[in-house]
Amino acid sequence: MKSKDFLRITDLEPAEIKTLVKRAIELKSSLRPKPLLGRNIALLFEKPSLRTKLSFDIGVHQLGGHPVYMGPTEVGIGDRELVSDIAKVVSRYVDCIVARVNSHSTIEEMGINASIPVINALSDFEHPCQTLADLQTIMEHKGRLEKLKIAYIGDSNNVARSLALGTALVGSSFAIASPSEYTLDPTTLRTASRIAASNNCQMSTFTDPLEAIAGADVVYTDVWTSMGQEIETMARLKQFQGYTVDSQLMSKANKDAIFMHDMPAHYGEEVVEGMLDEPFSVAFHQAENRLHSQKALLEHIFERF
Ligand code: CP
Repeated sequence: MKSKDFLRITDLEPAEIKTLVKRAIELKSSLRPKPLLGRNIALLFEKPSLRTKLSFDIGVHQLGGHPVYMGPTEVGIGDRELVSDIAKVVSRYVDCIVARVNSHSTIEEMGINASIPVINALSDFEHPCQTLADLQTIMEHKGRLEKLKIAYIGDSNNVARSLALGTALVGSSFAIASPSEYTLDPTTLRTASRIAASNNCQMSTFTDPLEAIAGADVVYTDVWTSMGQEIETMARLKQFQGYTVDSQLMSKANKDAIFMHDMPAHYGEEVVEGMLDEPFSVAFHQAENRLHSQKALLEHIFERF
């Protein structure tokens, strides 16, 4: 890790990501280490969550630690109190902060001001914990992380951004199809393209889902309207017409392609009802793997700090 914090997927070296994926698969079996014995972990969430909250809470317990959850109405991050003061105070009580925040700048400020590790449990810019679970799921179902093609259909959001970078870091190609107004930001595109090129892979953007999906080993989608963008829902519903993943679109990918969705799913929007239950879908494995991959991450962080 480049620092004490895990705020972006690029905070991990490619070899570390692969080690964490391997370790997560080990932890999924019967291993019961307790590296967090005597450790307290604050879960500070500014937004709702099912998977992230439960998987961190249960994961910390399983590793022997004590999670303390504080929800959206409790702390008033940056509102009731300065982010910098919160980070300094929480550092006096606990050993790690896992934070879900509205703005990525909040988690960066927490990282700067906390004397303990800070983990990004989703910001408006990245969702790196999701990418770790995604890569574990890809490894389990495709048998490797390298030389694959991941096609992402939909909004170039925080999940897409972390996945594009994570895919490039482990040596696979990433193709994203989005309406032109919702394409990846230039900085992420440039960084992901540079990393991909150094691994002889490609990073490509399209507006046509058919172009992105051709030859794909993995087809991934996520909501068109992320948390905090609700005011844009109607406009997005119009702009994203034609980007719904259904069996017909899926049939244009490789024959043995898997379907992924980080959930929650908005049926009838980015995905048709029933897709998550199709034999080619690994979405529920992906949700489970949040637990195992975050345990591997916590173990890794506490080996170092
Ligand atoms: N995928 C994901 O982060 O789910 P939650 O928002 O329910 O935590």
